[in-house]
Amino acid sequence: MTAPTTMLDPIETASRDEIAALQLTRMKRALAHAYQNSAFYRARFNAHGVHPDDLQSLADIAKFPFTVKQDLRDTYPFGMFAVPREKLVRIHGSSGTTGKPTVVGYTAADIDHWANLVARSIRAAGGRPGDMLHNAYGYGLFTGGIGAHYGAERLGCTVVPISGGMTERQVTLIDDFRPRIIMVTPSYMLSILDEFRRQGLDPRKSSLEIGIFGAEPWTNAMREEIEQAFDMQAVDIYGLSEVMGPGVAQECVETKDGLHVWEDHFYPEIIDPVTGEVLPDGQMGELVFTTLTKEGLPMVRYRTRDLTRLLPGTARSMRRIEKITGRCDDMIILRGVNVFPTQIEEQILKCQGLAPHFQIELTRSGRMDAMTVHVECSPAMAGVDARAASARELAHHIKSVVGISTKITVCDPAAIARSEGKAKRVIDNRPKEPTGG
Ligand code: DLL
Repeated sequence: MTAPTTMLDPIETASRDEIAALQLTRMKRALAHAYQNSAFYRARFNAHGVHPDDLQSLADIAKFPFTVKQDLRDTYPFGMFAVPREKLVRIHGSSGTTGKPTVVGYTAADIDHWANLVARSIRAAGGRPGDMLHNAYGYGLFTGGIGAHYGAERLGCTVVPISGGMTERQVTLIDDFRPRIIMVTPSYMLSILDEFRRQGLDPRKSSLEIGIFGAEPWTNAMREEIEQAFDMQAVDIYGLSEVMGPGVAQECVETKDGLHVWEDHFYPEIIDPVTGEVLPDGQMGELVFTTLTKEGLPMVRYRTRDLTRLLPGTARSMRRIEKITGRCDDMIILRGVNVFPTQIEEQILKCQGLAPHFQIELTRSGRMDAMTVHVECSPAMAGVDARAASARELAHHIKSVVGISTKITVCDPAAIARSEGKAKRVIDNRPKEPTGG
């Protein structure tokens, strides 16, 4: 399934020097565009005492101030854009936890680049022109559905724009239309898997050969689970609305060793999330992006809150990010130990008697925080004794690998609320800290 080099964009196999030269030219242009056309960036750069002319090398980007999600909230809805509103051909948004979405906008050229990068991503995943692609990412303000759709069409696929939800119908259409590729969140793929079984269909006999999963953290253990269940290749796609949407970085099917950042359009940095200092490649930290070609909403040093590290290129010359462990905001600090939901997922997948549908509940009694993992038993192991044994096994794995004591409740199959998009892994029932004042 490796793509012949003739099919690739020349920049995908260019030398590091060529990539860096292109990045520098584009970065200069991007900073000048942001400064000249966005009042937000002009004020921010001025307050920081920097000017686009101060960028002479790629490393000079460290002189420029960061942007964060709060900046988009403070300038809601259109205050950060660098083109007049009439030049935007589309708006997307991410819902977040509070009422108003974070709004992002695209010019026609932005949409064109985005479609090309998603097409490049699907091809890296093993997709080819003529393939049928079942797109179960949500259509709407979320960038997943329409972002994937345009890219799939650009590659020359036949797209089934089913969006999320109506799982029974998803399975019927997969069975009837025989798509080769599915694009969906990994957690919703598990619901589709359950539905295959409920309908008495063998998922391994389905037409699906490639799954392009992203929009939420998932582990290599989950990859194996899905690949085994469907007899398919499962690869990771990453992106975020503020920077573009899906297709900022993509794993190649031939190596499955992390995600190549499409560095001709996005300049990545890893920083220490506490000090903001830039870290060398190979070190774990927070991922930061500067967009190199975006017109509508240029992003300069946008702090993603996602934790990973930068690694050298393999299947492509552009650098990779390691599979994302989680977000700074998802990190649970339990009695001094840092825990990510992905670490719990890994341990659950080691237990035969459990299904990978889970939620983590945080509570507090007195001054002690406690964690309960609610997890479903696998249908074949639903007996009382089997459940108790699975609970003990999981508690043991979590204690010995993650280092924390947890309470485990093993529930019935299908007891955990299913998401049709991104799964909600953590329920925080701890009393809110008084905010003071
Ligand atoms: O989730 C864009 C997307 C759609 C990516 C479809 C891939 C597939 P947002 O809703 O803005 O955009 O959420 C972005 O989701 O900062 C990460 O925390 C998380 N995320 C996205 N992809 C991955 C991934 C879309 N492959 C936020 N692994 C990001 C881990 C991911 N986390």
